[in-house]
Amino acid sequence: MAKKKKNKETPPGSKGPNEELMNRLNTALSLEYAACIQYLQQQSLVKGQDRHDFAPFFASSSSEAHLHAQNLGNKIVSLGGVPTVVPAQVRQATELRDMLLNDLEMERTALEAYIRAWEAAENKLALRFWLEDIIRQEQLHVEELEKLTDRHRP
Ligand SMILES: [Fe+2]
Repeated sequence: MAKKKKNKETPPGSKGPNEELMNRLNTALSLEYAACIQYLQQQSLVKGQDRHDFAPFFASSSSEAHLHAQNLGNKIVSLGGVPTVVPAQVRQATELRDMLLNDLEMERTALEAYIRAWEAAENKLALRFWLEDIIRQEQLHVEELEKLTDRHRP
């Protein structure tokens, strides 16, 4: 059975029958904010020859997280909730490999958060389909980072 997670950063207006769903959607949103910032900093920090390949990768990943955050915030409001303004933990590193490992951890956490939101969506089929599209994209991102770091799930 899934454990109930308390969200201390619950924004006003997210109480009610959808509270658990809203909390889980807001957890995913806070991770998108953090991913947006994390990739943005990495885009600025990556140096040497790696910069040629990885600055565009980090920039586009940050933009993708920004777009996901925008879409998710809009969805939360459509469902009667209030989007959080609090980002999840941003992991910092100066070496490329550490950056990518931090990103892998972030993306795996985000994927898990979206799956937990999908579980809470229960009979809201349209929301489930919408989340499944994002879950598919997040899964691709995790797989790409697993290849880049040569680190796969055991
Ligand atoms: Fe995302």
